[in-house]
Amino acid sequence: MKGLVLSGGKGTRLYPLTFTSAKQLIPVANKPILFRVIEAIRDAGITDIGIVVGDTAEEIKKAVGRGGRWGVKVTYIQQEAPLGLAHAVKISQDFLGDERFVMFLGDNVIQGGISPLIQQFATSDYNAQIVLTRVDHPEQYGVAELDEEGRIVRLVEKPKEPPSDLALVGIYMFDHHIFEAVNAITPSWRGELEITDAIQWLVEHGYRVYPYIHRGWWIDTGRPGDMLEANSLVLEELEPVIEGYVDRDSQVDSRVTVQKGAEIINSVVRGPTIIGEDTRIVNSYVGPFTSIYHHVLIENSEIERSIVLERSVIRDVDRRIQDSLIGRNVCIERSPFRPRAYKFTLGDNSHLGLVVNGG
Ligand code: TTP
Repeated sequence: MKGLVLSGGKGTRLYPLTFTSAKQLIPVANKPILFRVIEAIRDAGITDIGIVVGDTAEEIKKAVGRGGRWGVKVTYIQQEAPLGLAHAVKISQDFLGDERFVMFLGDNVIQGGISPLIQQFATSDYNAQIVLTRVDHPEQYGVAELDEEGRIVRLVEKPKEPPSDLALVGIYMFDHHIFEAVNAITPSWRGELEITDAIQWLVEHGYRVYPYIHRGWWIDTGRPGDMLEANSLVLEELEPVIEGYVDRDSQVDSRVTVQKGAEIINSVVRGPTIIGEDTRIVNSYVGPFTSIYHHVLIENSEIERSIVLERSVIRDVDRRIQDSLIGRNVCIERSPFRPRAYKFTLGDNSHLGLVVNGG
């Protein structure tokens, strides 16, 4: 089998973080989501992986390289514009040939890897297998309707009256018949070739499409809130290691990872949390469910349930920062200069939550 990872797209819902850089490279528990996807595919025994890239191709190629680090071989497939998931399959036909393959959205995080579902598909005669999981609000997802034998009858996008509570997870398995489907369908109202339409086409033309019901958690990291949720879930499963320095005046509890070259000075760090390489936490509190990436400084401040990316500085902030996604090279600090006012340099589509007086 081969692997196909979708890492193009625009990531508009995560602006400004993804305005200039790829959303698949945002780290969750200090490891880019795309690296987690590659590892999940490799751990399922697949080593020939195609990555579909768009405007952020250069950044992704620089971060992933040829795949040697993971013991896999990576081939890049350039998509001229984000014209849909089925379009990404269409342009990958030369790479995929006649082999069965798994397609994994490069911004999805799934608990427990994908070995069981790959095994089920590899040993079956299904033409396609989709992954479903039970959700509380199926009306917000692509939803599947099954027949008595457990076969897929219909897929519906964000239905007002959902036929089931089984939502489509961003992992799909196909044989070469999918190319007939992606070549037959036409763009949807939003101008994209939809993978749900291609799967529906397979069903209607008598191909065998079966579901795999996933029982752990799964997160599609489209929006900032999803990113924080994925971060919390992955941190909960992280094996803590202390490779950096913790001074005697600090309290670091047992579920904290301190990466190489990091320093915790006179601070309290509560797990599950990860402190990245060469980051310094000085006279501060870092609360649970927080990932601080590399080369960050947090001084005289408090932060909880947040993600901070590389080379940022948070200094002398007198309110606790919470539920925040802070980009690269950001500086948040108290200014010593008058007037005593908020002074911002924010990118387009930034979001700032200020506490009102006395609040
Ligand atoms: P989406 O989250 O559907 O799209 P997006 O990344 O453009 O985000 P937004 O809606 O916020 O603008 O994409 C899911 C994954 O598939 C993501 O990793 C990007 C990738 N993708 C492609 O590679 N090609 C495409 O044509 C599309 C639509 C998505």
